[in-house]
Amino acid sequence: MKVRYSDEITDGFKEKTNISYELSKEAEKYMPGGVTANIKYFDPYPIFMKKGDGAYLYDADDNKYIDYLLSYGSLMLGHGHPEIINALETQMKEHGTVLFGTPHQLEIEMAKKLVNLYPSMDKIRYTNSGTEATLLAIRLSYAYTGKHKLAKFEGHYHGGYDQMLISVNPPVHEAGPESTPLSLIESKGVDPYHQEHTITLPFNNLEATAEILTKHQHELAAVILEPVQSGYIPTSEQFMTGLREITQQLGILLIFDEVKTGFRIGLGGAQSFYSVNPDLTTLGKVVGGGFPIGIVGGKEDIMMISAPSAFSDVFDNSHSSQSAAKEVLFHSGTYNGHPTILAAGMTTIAVLEQEMHHVMGKTAALKKGIHELFSRKGIPLQTVGIGSIFNIVITDQERISNYRELQTADFAWRKKLDFALLNEGIYTKPLNRCSMSTVHGDKEIALTLEAFEAALNKLT
Ligand SMILES: Cc1ncc(COP(=O)(O)O)c(C=O)c1O
Repeated sequence: MKVRYSDEITDGFKEKTNISYELSKEAEKYMPGGVTANIKYFDPYPIFMKKGDGAYLYDADDNKYIDYLLSYGSLMLGHGHPEIINALETQMKEHGTVLFGTPHQLEIEMAKKLVNLYPSMDKIRYTNSGTEATLLAIRLSYAYTGKHKLAKFEGHYHGGYDQMLISVNPPVHEAGPESTPLSLIESKGVDPYHQEHTITLPFNNLEATAEILTKHQHELAAVILEPVQSGYIPTSEQFMTGLREITQQLGILLIFDEVKTGFRIGLGGAQSFYSVNPDLTTLGKVVGGGFPIGIVGGKEDIMMISAPSAFSDVFDNSHSSQSAAKEVLFHSGTYNGHPTILAAGMTTIAVLEQEMHHVMGKTAALKKGIHELFSRKGIPLQTVGIGSIFNIVITDQERISNYRELQTADFAWRKKLDFALLNEGIYTKPLNRCSMSTVHGDKEIALTLEAFEAALNKLT
């Protein structure tokens, strides 16, 4: 049975979004749930957008919103940035195609940029999504260590495939003790094999993490983590450096999944913020300038396992008697290193090199304004986050440092706030984090704070 939010929560929403409602009914005829990515759904129905412009989105009913979802953080230059549009046009006009299907120079230029900004990366490979990037990083870790289990942290997301759909958002009462969380499968259709092979760790708890890693050291290829959980819950420096040390001591690779944090915590991601060098890093989102991309980068000796050599091509039938395919880690993809996407990505990085400090400053100003507003109203809240991402957590706890602590927050009230904000022209998917862009300026911050005030007045 479909669970529905009460009318009290969605008060006013349905009146403003009639056409979205109609479109959602139409979409349901053709796509399960009316969506083509489950994350796009929310109850009672998602808003259908039809236009973006800078910091703004316009929906099918012509409502205007300041966009804080920014396509789950990808659009760090906002919507339709003229330099990105220009880069796409130039790339296609000058090179006469959208795609070569061969190596090309932009692959080298982007790689140079990335290894400069992320010193932990000696070499890189391109993929088409963050999901593919983490998949490749995991395969590299298996190949390098010869071990075939993986550890991840409770509450962390690394893509929607069997191995990683474990304990992303588990019901706390089923999830076992806080310091030794169970591995819970979070989707229908996942092979129970992965429950055994993915070990779940407690984030920001070094002692308990070290104990679990030590116990499983002979079977664990890697620990993968979001260095800032969900893009907004930071680790303590002591946890980060301790995790680096223990994984090194135990011969377990450390994978930083920086799909959210890359170019958002700073140009060099969370690893430059914490000054910790992981063995492998995955990037995505911002670095594609709004187009699908993923990147895996890491230490020379690990990355080189995927380097092809004579007779290693798995598709080459002519040499089946001397095939060396199994000597090399297979990694491929029709669209890997897509030139049009790399052109958008290079432009994004160039703009961020000039304007990153501006985004950080505006994020801090908005967080401060929201804090002041809530404390005037006497509502306990934390704006949790570093860099250009934060989340509004309705809580009187002093500290939110992991999944379990986050569960103590008042999500029901937050949902009401989100719908009230939608009605006031502030867009993020209910309960999601907020991301900022280079085009969120003083005007947008002032309008956002006015909208928050109006929403709070209605709710209190
Ligand atoms: C940390 C992290 N890893 C991996 C992914 C998967 O990336 P994609 O949606 O591009 O496949 C995401 C997506 O949100 C993510 O946040």
